[in-house]
Amino acid sequence: MAVLGLLPQFLLYILSALVSLLLCVYAYFSYSFTYWKRKGVPYIQPKFPLGNNDCYGTEALSYGLETVDWYTEAKKKGYKIVGTWNYSNPVLLLVDLDTIKSVLVKDFNYFTDRDFFHNPKHDPKNESIFVAENEEWRQLRQRLSPVFTTAKMRIMFELVNKCAEPMMQLFETYSQSGDPIDIKDVVAMFTTDVISCVAFGLDASSFNPHEAKFRVIGRKFFESNLKTKTHLIIGRINKKIARFLGLRIIPEFLTNFFTEVITENARFRQENNVRKTDLMQLLLDLYESSKGQDGGFTFNDFVGNVIVFFLAGFDTTSTTMHYALYELARNPNLQEKTRMEIETVLKKHDGHLTYEAFQEMTYLRQVIDETLRLYPAVQNVTRVCGKPYTFKDSKVTIEKGVSVVVPLVALGRDPDYHQDPELFDPERFSPKNKESITKYAYMPFGEGPRNCIGKRFGLMNSSIGLIRILKAYKITINSQTIMPLKLKRGVFLMQPVDKLYINAIKI
Ligand code: HEM
Repeated sequence: MAVLGLLPQFLLYILSALVSLLLCVYAYFSYSFTYWKRKGVPYIQPKFPLGNNDCYGTEALSYGLETVDWYTEAKKKGYKIVGTWNYSNPVLLLVDLDTIKSVLVKDFNYFTDRDFFHNPKHDPKNESIFVAENEEWRQLRQRLSPVFTTAKMRIMFELVNKCAEPMMQLFETYSQSGDPIDIKDVVAMFTTDVISCVAFGLDASSFNPHEAKFRVIGRKFFESNLKTKTHLIIGRINKKIARFLGLRIIPEFLTNFFTEVITENARFRQENNVRKTDLMQLLLDLYESSKGQDGGFTFNDFVGNVIVFFLAGFDTTSTTMHYALYELARNPNLQEKTRMEIETVLKKHDGHLTYEAFQEMTYLRQVIDETLRLYPAVQNVTRVCGKPYTFKDSKVTIEKGVSVVVPLVALGRDPDYHQDPELFDPERFSPKNKESITKYAYMPFGEGPRNCIGKRFGLMNSSIGLIRILKAYKITINSQTIMPLKLKRGVFLMQPVDKLYINAIKI
């Protein structure tokens, strides 16, 4: 009874503690929201607690399409930089191309790192080139760059081409039934198979609904649950607190799944003396050769980087492929031109799709370049300031830890740099016109020393998938596709609001 008597008092304590905590958080946010005013930088008015985010969710990782509005508004007002907040975090949006060049290239030493939360102590298996910082990143980049040379691409070409077989079988089924094809779903199965094959040395069987484990895992990663979102948001608000609390970016069950698959596969290769010509072998060799060395490529580095190649590789590539197919389906003349080139080049190579043949398909490359201008899978590139930095013209100084963001999608759609920007026109990238594209106004793979390491691989995979489809099928927009296409806000990778469907007609 005495305990029950104390209950209201206990609840009162808890309530007061919660109210005090909320007041502290509110005060912390309110003070952070004065950051850009104190710096004399024009800013977009933030709101508690989201800052300038549209909604709670994956945007805790990075901004999405909303940067286009901010960029357009800032440019209209003649601003070169504009202040925003991701939750309580000040993030500087770069508008002017010279400033962008300084951050990504000229003054890269001030901006070596990406502003993603990661937790080396509690989540060492998710340390990778993507989140590594400064010296550690430099070393990793140097070690991993040889994985994507032309010679390695040539070797992996055959593996990727083989991975397209199940996709072609599915196209055959669809062309016979006349059913609408959910483009993203099909090409994501292809790219999941590709990355699983080259990164894990495994047949992911994504086209087999009973065995498509990697496809399920890939989906789960991008459909982050409430727990992951909370971890990300706390990590975004304060990295130190998130690290202290042992929070992680990738759920444990996903890391365990990948670790098990990688360990098992590596053991099999070592015990049976099996060598393959894939990405996993290159990373395994790196691990084996640096065993016992101080600061070498550890087992955790091995696992973390295989995971990151999978995650960074499959959705970016499938996103690109699916927008390319959508544009070609609604532009039959461009589709025909692409197909003509594919046929002509293949004829020259006795009907064989080889690395050399793919390299000669320059119009196809123009189609992919134009797709990436209008639909860059990664919509914004971020960097975090590593030491106090003063922007040349504005004399504004930002401190260590402040993030900057480069709006790739806004730059690609800016009419000052790309005439009639909404028009899908691969001619912009013809050998003649390409030279006149304003530098830094088109960079779907980022720029400078920390640009996309998998660029060649991503381009090769997308090309192989498109070649195989267009060679055998004419594609048209299915009536289930809602036009004009609308893009989702508040998501990290570019996504349409509604699914895109095509029909395939066998040639
Ligand atoms: C069309 C497909 C792809 C697109 C559009 C794309 C885009 C990007 C972008 C914009 C970045 C950030 C660059 C920066 O911060 O300046 C990036 C980084 C990265 N990408 Fe890609 N990517 C693609 C395919 C791939 C593939 C296939 C892989 C690996 C197999 C990959 C692995 C990575 C990695 C590891 C990084 C981090 C590099 C570093 O920090 O040094 N990407 N990608």
